[in-house]
Amino acid sequence: MWKKHAKLERNSLALVLGIVIVVSIGGLVEISPLFYLESTIEKVDGVRPYTPLEQAGRDIYVREGCYLCHSQMIRPLRDEVERYGHYSLAAESMYDHPFQWGSKRTGPDLARVGGKYSDSWHHDHLTDPRAVVPESNMPPFRFLAETDLDYRIIERRLAALRQVGVPYTKDQIANATKDLETQVDAFAGENSGLKKRYGAKVGQRDFDGDPARLTEMDALIAYLQVLGTMVDFRTYKAEDPENMR
Ligand code: HEC
Repeated sequence: MWKKHAKLERNSLALVLGIVIVVSIGGLVEISPLFYLESTIEKVDGVRPYTPLEQAGRDIYVREGCYLCHSQMIRPLRDEVERYGHYSLAAESMYDHPFQWGSKRTGPDLARVGGKYSDSWHHDHLTDPRAVVPESNMPPFRFLAETDLDYRIIERRLAALRQVGVPYTKDQIANATKDLETQVDAFAGENSGLKKRYGAKVGQRDFDGDPARLTEMDALIAYLQVLGTMVDFRTYKAEDPENMR
């Protein structure tokens, strides 16, 4: 055995070949099961596609490059879980195109920022971050509250997302404009169809404090307020208790 080993070590070609074979076993063990699994994402109750308003807000988030300073993925490490809450589940970003996990954290992770602050806090913070957090170096985005949201293509936006696998129904796509307008109307009532299509938990109110206008600020705050709130972690149980650590 030892003698043969010496032979292998002196012949670099044989050694490289041997290394490739050994390393590829590890690769095969990790990769080949993925071809036989139907899905690598465990379905989790509560996760739904974004409402048209939230999706419009998400598009503004991407347009403004918020991801350059904010990640949206809580790693399963103790310091992160204690600071931000339950670690992110794969299912929570399964309808995100493009996903916003990121690795740059000039500002805090935003995966569970929904419900952490009031709408008016977000309005004030986005308008002038230093008015609420004096040491902040986040740039102001005050024009969002002064810019009417352009949602002429919202039906086509949802249809495009459907093409890449987001399960929007025909009903949701056909009613996208109506649902978008309903979500900022606190007086639209429960029978508007929005909650029927997206669930009773959908936040329906004027988000930017200016009910007279439907602005980009409305959409962005609606999006921020839903982040990390779809799964109810009081009832959520990971399938494998090992994963809970
Ligand atoms: C240049 C980096 C930078 C950019 C770009 C940026 N932020 Fe921030 N953000 C920060 C920093 C730093 C903080 C922490 C201080 C503070 O709260 O203002 C922060 C805080 C926040 C918070 C509060 C988070 C918490 O848990 O307290 C929210 C919400 C937020 N940002 C949203 C946004 C959104 C939305 C955008 C894009 C429109 C954006 N940020 C763009 C740097 C940035």
